Amino acid sequence: MPLKRNSKRHRQGERVLDVIKVTPKGSLRGEIVPPPDKSISHRAVILGSLSEGESTIKNFLRAEDPIRTIKAFQQMGIEITEVKSQKSKVKSQNTDLIINGKGLTGLRTPQDIIDCGNSGTTMRLLCGVLAGQPFRAALTGDASLRIRPMQRVITPLTEMGARITSEAKSYPPLTIHGGSLRPIYYKSPVASAQVKSAILLAGLYCDGVTKIREPDKSRDHTERMLRAQGAEVEIKDLEVSIKGTLNQERFRGRAHLKPLDITIPGDFSSAAFFIVAGIIVPGSEISIKNVGINPTRTGLLDILKTMGAEIKIENEHEQSGEPAADLYVKYSQLKGIDIEGDLALRAIDEFPIICVAASVASGITKITGAGELRVKESDRIASMAKELRKMGVTVEELKDGIIIEGKDRLNSAIIQSHGDHRVAMSMAVAGLFAQGETIIEDTECVNTSFPGFIEMLKKLQRG
Ligand code: S3P
Repeated sequence: MPLKRNSKRHRQGERVLDVIKVTPKGSLRGEIVPPPDKSISHRAVILGSLSEGESTIKNFLRAEDPIRTIKAFQQMGIEITEVKSQKSKVKSQNTDLIINGKGLTGLRTPQDIIDCGNSGTTMRLLCGVLAGQPFRAALTGDASLRIRPMQRVITPLTEMGARITSEAKSYPPLTIHGGSLRPIYYKSPVASAQVKSAILLAGLYCDGVTKIREPDKSRDHTERMLRAQGAEVEIKDLEVSIKGTLNQERFRGRAHLKPLDITIPGDFSSAAFFIVAGIIVPGSEISIKNVGINPTRTGLLDILKTMGAEIKIENEHEQSGEPAADLYVKYSQLKGIDIEGDLALRAIDEFPIICVAASVASGITKITGAGELRVKESDRIASMAKELRKMGVTVEELKDGIIIEGKDRLNSAIIQSHGDHRVAMSMAVAGLFAQGETIIEDTECVNTSFPGFIEMLKKLQRG
């Protein structure tokens, strides 16, 4: 078997580590349907819970991160039921949900601390929701989440009137003492959809218009979903505003967001591993069906096309308020390029896999303006630099990016995931281009976003 999924577990001291073993076996061929979009899955649970009535969410991502969001709302009294997805081809990756939303004021005090696991989106968006509640709630997470910066949401939410306390400077665990909020105009120092969404969610609980200005445009799934639910959201360039619904007359004094009836498209960030794999492994041709192509997310396509990749976008359509399409990728010889600023933001979660593409391109690739990568699930600049060097790649770390010199062949190696799902999957793709067997250790983290990753890769190896 060229690819082995976690079949063997490595013992490292007291810890038992899941491993992925990858050996190249020629071209990758076939058709895949990527797992549902993670960002949209989180938002569907949050906004479905806050709406009044029954929401139907089809093709929900059944992975650890969005399940954390489901559990959080169940802890706050929301009934969320899973209906097995008929179409599910890959076990456990997608499902359908029925959410019995109780409106903006229908949440109840959680009895226990809410555990957000590895999910920054769960924690930061929940901060926004909890800021508007008349009760106190505590949030925690795993070792990685407990060292991720939360000041970025604490500052604006405190300005709106919430009180957020932390025992460890501004790091989780956090306690949110919600209450009555006032609208603000917030100029965010970071372009972050999590920060923007936290403020928009809190803005629902204000009397008046809350406005956020970002230095660059981050993903806009929250704005799209809120609008579809009838909230008054305005977008002007880099500024987004929301009119609080609690006291609006047309809601007759009652909070009201329309329930959702949506089918979530495939996750572009999960498709990204196969887009790059299909391009860098000689002889490959892959069709990727029904993937979200929201322009705030698809910087990778522009980057790869500039590097010389052959990518076709077919069957473009709108799916539940989000653009989606089928993608067709083919093996192409890549060349190194410069990637900066706005483009880097539109490909922020694709940085690890872009580093892999750069490692096999001819010439040098330089990425700048991506300092946010230092505070993701791991310090992704440091993690990728360290692991790619093990495979013989020449890499220079920059404060806000990386310089990579491409190679004709990568060396196989024993790789660490740094507990970061996107590092683990990107390095598995790098293994397809190496000589011999590459072992990626500590790969349990893959389940946070893409439980069927290895099975999908195996299917393409079989052709
Ligand atoms: C996300 C926003 C981004 C992204 C993360 C998911 C979201 O984070 O990197 O994987 O769903 O809102 P930032 O808001 O920190 O940029």
